[in-house]
Amino acid sequence: MARAKAADKKQVKTIGVLTSGGDAPGMNAAIRAVVRTAIANGLKVKGIRRGYTGLLEEDIIDMNARSVADIIQRGGTILYTARCPEFMTANGQDKGADICRKHGIDGLVVIGGDGSFQGARQLAARGVNTVGVPGTIDLDIACTEYTIGFDTAVNTAMEAIDKVRDTSTSHERCSIIEVMGRNAGYIALWCGIANGAEDILTVECYDRDESKIIENIRAKKKVGKTHHIIINAEGIGDSYEMAKRIEAATGMETRATVVGHIQRGGSPTCKDRVYASAMGAKAVDILTAGGSNRVVAYKHGEYVDFDIEEALRMKKTLDPYLFEMSKKLAR
Ligand code: ADP
Ligand code: F6P
Repeated sequence: MARAKAADKKQVKTIGVLTSGGDAPGMNAAIRAVVRTAIANGLKVKGIRRGYTGLLEEDIIDMNARSVADIIQRGGTILYTARCPEFMTANGQDKGADICRKHGIDGLVVIGGDGSFQGARQLAARGVNTVGVPGTIDLDIACTEYTIGFDTAVNTAMEAIDKVRDTSTSHERCSIIEVMGRNAGYIALWCGIANGAEDILTVECYDRDESKIIENIRAKKKVGKTHHIIINAEGIGDSYEMAKRIEAATGMETRATVVGHIQRGGSPTCKDRVYASAMGAKAVDILTAGGSNRVVAYKHGEYVDFDIEEALRMKKTLDPYLFEMSKKLAR
């Protein structure tokens, strides 16, 4: 019976690959792995440019092993990426599934974040075998301990913050440094620990009581600290305005620096290249084995996969131990 069911499954012949949502260093390594694993598995590959926008516009190209030469070390995504409001509608999703069928794409790898996986889920429900690969600098996908791009982004931010720290110490200033993460504080938490920040403000944990920060600045000054580093996650609000308020309240010169989109670019770290390669290859193996509506994840030291719906239902919180520890280390 089980054998009959397996035989009934239509063998995937052509794999499509797209990148969607915010780009992340390592996406190119994932694309390369998808293309070359598919070819090794005897499949054809089509690249869809500009995420779901390109799918709806049929911006689809044939890819071979040479199409992904010389990209493993490059940031960004050679397939481009986009945010596509039309794909949030049932009409857009129906059209996307029809276009996949028209181009013979019977398996699709979607490299992106939770939003992109919602789109993948809709395509899977419309008969296109789909697998998601977690690509976002934010590390905010609950089913996986790793997302492609996070390592490069935190290392870029950490190096920038080290530089601000030098000048902050020389001038005995307070420095507020804003890192990316509109809805997620992982970059802020990791940089806060790695850069030895006195305060880490994240969307998840900050109670918006500025008087506590002001009190902390005064307390740290009393114990002989010559600077005060505050790492803000992007979602906290305007760091420049906060700097003015803090300077006015404490009398300590305060400057704000927004690290910005440099965190999204640059050559991926070794870790991002290796994880991206493994995750891209695994996505193709899942499709080759007849899987669909799955997300690749890294959990407890292994590459695994989850049902997309199950993955999207999971909730991720900032590690409270790391957060409390960071406060103890900042004394
Ligand atoms: P990320 O994938 O990084 O989370 P977004 O949330 O911006 O980025 O989502 C990327 C794209 O995925 C959106 O522009 C849209 O095309 C698609 N998408 C997001 N949410 C949904 C949804 N609920 N249904 C269908 N498609 C969606
Ligand atoms: O999701 C990645 C991310 O870089 C977030 O950290 C940030 O809030 C957002 O994208 C910024 O997006 P945009 O490309 O619109 O500036």
